[in-house]
Amino acid sequence: MYNDIDLTKIDLTQNAPAEEPQRQYYFIAKARELIRERSRQTGRPLTACIKTFGCQMNARDSEKLRGILEMIGYEHSESEEADFVLYNTCTVRENANLKVYGHLGYLSGLKKKNPQMIIALCGCMMQEAEVVDKIQKSYRFVDLVFGTHNIFKFAELLVTSLESSRMVVDLWKDTDKIVEDLPTDRTYSFKSGVNIMFGCNNFCSYCIVPYVRGRERSRKPEDIIREIKDLVKDGVVEVMLLGQNVNSYGKNLEEPITFAQLLRQVEQIEGLERIRFMTSHPKDLSEELIKVMRQSKKICRHLHLPLQSGSTPILKKMNRRYTKEQYLDLAARIREAMPDIAITTDIIVGFPGETEEDFQETLDVVRRVRYDSAFTFIYSRRTGTPAAVMENQVPEDVVKDRFNRLLALVQDISKEMSLKVQGQTLPVLVESVNEQDSALVTGRLSNNLLVHFPGGRELIGKIVNVYLKECKGFYYIGEYVPDAGEGSRSGSDEASAR
Ligand code: 5AD
Ligand code: SF4
Repeated sequence: MYNDIDLTKIDLTQNAPAEEPQRQYYFIAKARELIRERSRQTGRPLTACIKTFGCQMNARDSEKLRGILEMIGYEHSESEEADFVLYNTCTVRENANLKVYGHLGYLSGLKKKNPQMIIALCGCMMQEAEVVDKIQKSYRFVDLVFGTHNIFKFAELLVTSLESSRMVVDLWKDTDKIVEDLPTDRTYSFKSGVNIMFGCNNFCSYCIVPYVRGRERSRKPEDIIREIKDLVKDGVVEVMLLGQNVNSYGKNLEEPITFAQLLRQVEQIEGLERIRFMTSHPKDLSEELIKVMRQSKKICRHLHLPLQSGSTPILKKMNRRYTKEQYLDLAARIREAMPDIAITTDIIVGFPGETEEDFQETLDVVRRVRYDSAFTFIYSRRTGTPAAVMENQVPEDVVKDRFNRLLALVQDISKEMSLKVQGQTLPVLVESVNEQDSALVTGRLSNNLLVHFPGGRELIGKIVNVYLKECKGFYYIGEYVPDAGEGSRSGSDEASAR
């Protein structure tokens, strides 16, 4: 829809419309005027830089923010020496917060050189009252602060900030609102994230996400399908459906539908070649979903299934609502239905009260499931979550030792799992020219493994067959196999697609 909007036709002498997204287009047009004027004064185009911290949700939000900035007339810049700098923050672990404070120190120096510079902060970290207090007290040079629920209001807030010399802060506690049809600027032309839901209702006891992202809200299936069809028209061949817990998608819609039913609809979209999704909560993963995945020609052979801990008592304290045995049974059913699937996971080490025995249970699950890869995290105490006030926080040296042992095991298994497809010829979606060696391109297998092979940039965005010559641990060196299905759909031939 936004492609059809003519900003010059918006009458800025009138008041802003009340409905969305029209209201935001009004403010985009207004910001455009203000930026043009500033640009005239400085005698050069103004630049904007967005730095994204955290997960794929934030990456997708940043594409939307960049789309708005582009429409306003800012030139995109990778460098923070820009006229507008926005940090889209994460707060899932304390380290994420520390990084932002570190970067802010650097920005204050840049602002001294360019006093016109606007510094804005948004994202999960801003939903925490103590953070915003600290910014208001100790980081007075910040111009604009907003959160996760009102991100759609970015253009409006930017106008307020451009017209004010004070710090503008707008934070909402929660929302049931989903605003559709705002502009986006995709990082990749051929693949895109697509939000299917926002927020989380699970309240895992260590996790801050439900507090900063609010209650679970699903987008309507027709809006999702329309967005994906538009993306496909625009050259996208792979989508990643995004939600904190995609398996509970659609439960609260006026006309409830399951995630598996949504996938069936997405599968029908002509021209779309690959479907990925993230994240699946094990407690909600249905038999229906396994069936839809198994039958699908487009859904990639990869499932991210966070374990968090292998110990049933710890899982209970984490409020994960499954036991070790239930998880193992689920993983076994998935592997049985799709022997070539890659299962990846998230694991937390050092949750309060975790004993060596509990930790051994985690190692046991890792050995049995044999993850293709795993993200391992040291437990980070998040103020406001139930786990933060639990007794028996595990001493740092014990956690570090466990973390190292877990990492070594995960890496050993991951290397062995990667070897499984050596010598096969499989479809690869080419994503970029290799960063280290420009004679190579880099792409991804359906199972998410990376492959580097000799080739030119004309292959970017195409799905091509690649002979997997040499496994280098976590990636492959391959050889392009022209004509053998080049340009064919990723799953059109079941044997070669998987
Ligand atoms: N400490 C450590 N890891 C955490 N995660 C979420 N909250 C915390 C925390 N407080 C991890 C979980 C989740 C991933 C996105 O981040 O493993 O799946
Ligand atoms: Fe956090 Fe649990 Fe929700 Fe994932 S499911 S975002 S870990 S509360």
